[in-house]
Amino acid sequence: MPSFLTAVSLSLSLLSFLGSAPLVSAGSSCVAFDINWNLLVFGLGGADYNAGTKDTWSSGSASEITADNRPPFDGDNVTCYLSQFYNAIYVLGADKSDASSVYIYDASAKSWSKQAVDAGSLDTSNFDAILDHDTNVFYAVSNAEFFSLDMSSLNAASSDKLAWNDVQSTGFDSSYKPVMALAQNHIHFLDVPDVDEGSAKIFVIHFSFMQPDAQSYGSFPKAHGQAGSIFLDAGVQEEFFFIPDDGSATYVINVESNSTKTMAGPPTVDTSAFYFASPDSIVQISSAGDVAYLPYDNSSDGSSASWATVQSLASFKPSSSASSGASGTGSATETATGGAASASGSSTDGNGASGRMAGAGSAAAALVVLALSALML
Ligand SMILES: *[C@@H]1O[C@H](CO)[C@@H](O)[C@H](O)[C@H]1NC(C)=O
Ligand SMILES: *[C@@H]1O[C@H](CO)[C@@H](O)[C@H](O)[C@H]1NC(C)=O
Ligand SMILES: *[C@@H]1O[C@H](CO)[C@@H](O)[C@H](O)[C@H]1NC(C)=O
Repeated sequence: MPSFLTAVSLSLSLLSFLGSAPLVSAGSSCVAFDINWNLLVFGLGGADYNAGTKDTWSSGSASEITADNRPPFDGDNVTCYLSQFYNAIYVLGADKSDASSVYIYDASAKSWSKQAVDAGSLDTSNFDAILDHDTNVFYAVSNAEFFSLDMSSLNAASSDKLAWNDVQSTGFDSSYKPVMALAQNHIHFLDVPDVDEGSAKIFVIHFSFMQPDAQSYGSFPKAHGQAGSIFLDAGVQEEFFFIPDDGSATYVINVESNSTKTMAGPPTVDTSAFYFASPDSIVQISSAGDVAYLPYDNSSDGSSASWATVQSLASFKPSSSASSGASGTGSATETATGGAASASGSSTDGNGASGRMAGAGSAAAALVVLALSALML
């Protein structure tokens, strides 16, 4: 039966192709800094690295720090947070088979543990979170509701199960996709419906209070994007960055002076990229595994600063990225072009890459079903 043979051989060749495809999906890596501003990269081609401080990024090679009990980094939206008092990195969404646990990397001991967490009514497939600097409590927004998770003083998992608590309504429309960042113990929300460009809504964490009036911070667009705190050597963050999805600029908002600086946009336009900022750099990891940074100096206007590749990580980029994997399915357009090397850069749509990976998986599943049903005949 030729059709039977064709189906079997097609499915086998597709399966062997998929078997050799790298396990990279958009958003499965993240970057963070430890308290000495060493750049840590997690889930880059199946391994973790310490790239050291900024002065070492332009040459040489980062050190591998892959250790036991790390998460598989197979999630679609891995996010990393620095607990500055405890020199710990908290990792969310890095284990598809266990979406509610928090993995903890103790950056001093260089060891991993897994904190059991009861997600309660938090939708672990759809939320955005910040880690409050002073209280070490996560605040998440999911479906327009605030949730909190108290990490107390953990730099390793405790045997007690923790829980996300439903705090209160945000008052936002449920269609609002949060763009949120912590500064001065307040959560700043951008791109809020009915709030003008250049302004933010402010949630005062310690009083669980959403300020009724928006605060004006100068000039930045009303757009969805990525935002995060700019850490200081000590004390609560006073500035945060905002990168709209179109990647057109990097904005830094200072919540003391109520002003905004405009700097160059990142080298890779990628809505699935992840960002993290130390006192002197804003770092991007793209879905293809390119790591780049914008040098930052809070006493300069930053208008002449430009993004550069973290060279010491370049050789660890997965050789075959999600997009090149997807090209084997026949649905592909060329997406990853390694643009991180140049500041003008190229454009990679990580969501597209991830969509194609999902498509490849279901095509394979359909063929397996086809092959199996042919065998039954
Ligand atoms: C990942 O992020 C996207 C965009 O923010 C969101 O739509 C999706 O639900 C998230 N998925 C998970 C697993 O968190
Ligand atoms: C600017 O950076 C210096 C040195 O890191 C720090 O002491 C100061 O608080 C920072 N100012 C703001 C507004 O972040
Ligand atoms: C920033 O705005 C707040 C609220 O309007 C105000 O209290 C504060 O004085 C402003 N800061 C500066 C430096 O103007």
